[in-house]
Amino acid sequence: MCGIIGCVAEEPVAGILLEGLRRVEYRGYDSAGMATISGGRLGVKKGAGRVSEIEGRHRMSSMLGSTGMAHTRWATHGGVTDANAHPHASCRETVAVIHNGIIENYIPLRKALRAKGHRFKSETDTEVIAHIVEDEYKRLGDPLKSTLAAVKKLKGQYAIAVLFQDRPDVMTGARKDAPLIVGVGKGMTFLASDVLAFIGYTDRTIFLDNYEVVEITKDSVRIVGLDGKKVKREPNQVAWELSDVSKSDYAHYTLKEINEQPRTVVSAAVQDQEKLEEFAQAVRKAKSLYITASGTSYHAGLLMKFRLNKEAKLRADVVVAGELKEHTEFLGKGSVVVALSQSGETADVMEAVKEAKKHGAKVYSIVNAAGSTLARESDGVLLLNCGPEVGVAATKSFTAQVVVANLVVDAVLGRKHPNGLAELSDAVAQALKCEGQVQELVRQYRDRPDFYFVARGYESPVAMEGALKLKELSYIHAEGMPASELKHGTLALIEKGTPVVVINPSGPIHAESLSNAEELKARGADVIGISDENDEVYRHYIHVPRVQPKFAPIVEAIPLQLLAYHMSVARRNDPDYPRNLAKSVTVK
Ligand code: F6R
Repeated sequence: MCGIIGCVAEEPVAGILLEGLRRVEYRGYDSAGMATISGGRLGVKKGAGRVSEIEGRHRMSSMLGSTGMAHTRWATHGGVTDANAHPHASCRETVAVIHNGIIENYIPLRKALRAKGHRFKSETDTEVIAHIVEDEYKRLGDPLKSTLAAVKKLKGQYAIAVLFQDRPDVMTGARKDAPLIVGVGKGMTFLASDVLAFIGYTDRTIFLDNYEVVEITKDSVRIVGLDGKKVKREPNQVAWELSDVSKSDYAHYTLKEINEQPRTVVSAAVQDQEKLEEFAQAVRKAKSLYITASGTSYHAGLLMKFRLNKEAKLRADVVVAGELKEHTEFLGKGSVVVALSQSGETADVMEAVKEAKKHGAKVYSIVNAAGSTLARESDGVLLLNCGPEVGVAATKSFTAQVVVANLVVDAVLGRKHPNGLAELSDAVAQALKCEGQVQELVRQYRDRPDFYFVARGYESPVAMEGALKLKELSYIHAEGMPASELKHGTLALIEKGTPVVVINPSGPIHAESLSNAEELKARGADVIGISDENDEVYRHYIHVPRVQPKFAPIVEAIPLQLLAYHMSVARRNDPDYPRNLAKSVTVK
């Protein structure tokens, strides 16, 4: 996944582009670059490294021109090198392209272009686009038409922005299976892969559809379909505000987003009752019901399934999105697939949706990013309403997913009005007070090679989530599992001082989890209890407030998120941008 921002304006754009680039850096942070047109010349500055490093090395912000574009890269084709960073220019450097996605047929295209005399400077799939557009522009002499002709030759996924040296008044773009959004401002128009990139300048947006090609000037937007026919689309207003995308006084976005949760668990519950009822009806009536998602969203899906089974007596299969195509025996007309995704762009989730539709199933989704591919391709959508999540680790989106999933289950059960949200918000605020205790744990265990997280029943996915969070932010090996599984292999790994987190709310499974904690202690583990009830078996105890059982995973997630965050900081990692991970995983 990569981040794209382009702008055509009445004023110099380099500063605007740099600001936008920083906001989409979560989408990829291997390399960065910028291109502008000034004095009739197309200039490009780029290199491998974080945006701040490239800015330090090349002073992108000093580039002149009122038309330009910038890119943050997450490498797929071609290593992380200066030459492979975007923008990519054509042979004569008259056309420049930035791209998010994968061009599947770039090898035959490159071969054909080389045969025609084109010379390549990078190993990327993207560079072919610049050369094809250059040829088409020579032939057709029109930016929009040449972009259209070029994308007709591409196979794969793309969101692109294109600059033409002799047309400093325009920029073109096109999308297929990767987001591209037009921002319509006063005297300035944007193309970007995320609204966050330009939210400080305008909240009026047009979400492009697959196979659409666009040409923007500082005060116009022209969209055509692949057939060249004009598409009419009015801008919509987005609800996100600039304050949502600043770090405020927090050291990192991740910490800010963790601390936003007393508010976001409430905003997530603000849903259109008709849409909620329609969603619930679909779930209730489904001939077969699947829940699909990846990573943290998958854990929220597991929680949803638990209540659907236990309380609504509905059978649901929860399948990791990347595996859904292997589980289609019961998928057909009348089936419903519930997809959960923060970004609404995860490639595996989109592939699962494609598979579901191919089999005639309906897709209902729970998504944070309004206007994302998943939101637009679903038969029904409930939004998380938790604001943009910039930190790569899913935090507030997880707890918002749990709130929305609970609303759906409650509606399936015929319980219309959510209650207990004010108490939940207070409980989350209380849970956040464990930060000092968590930091103490971090001091004690920061050098341990392994961490384990266990729980039973409804809390089992919370244990898996705790392990996922710790792995991705601290790079410590961590495993999460039902406590009942401990005896099947894991106990052999427990040594003196191995930290094991036991998530154990009071209630029917409490006593069983305590005996697992005893077993662990007997083998030398340092048991860290997260519960509303203390017990002497715990070497360390983190108290979380007692809430309705359906909300317990929300308060239990708080210390786990803080543990992962502080472990990351203590180990000198960057919690907002962990290694080898992008915010939304758009490759399969
Ligand atoms: C975990 C994390 C990832 C995502 C996964 C799915 O903290 O960020 O594991 O949960 O990539 O992403 P979405 O929810 O955007 O589909």
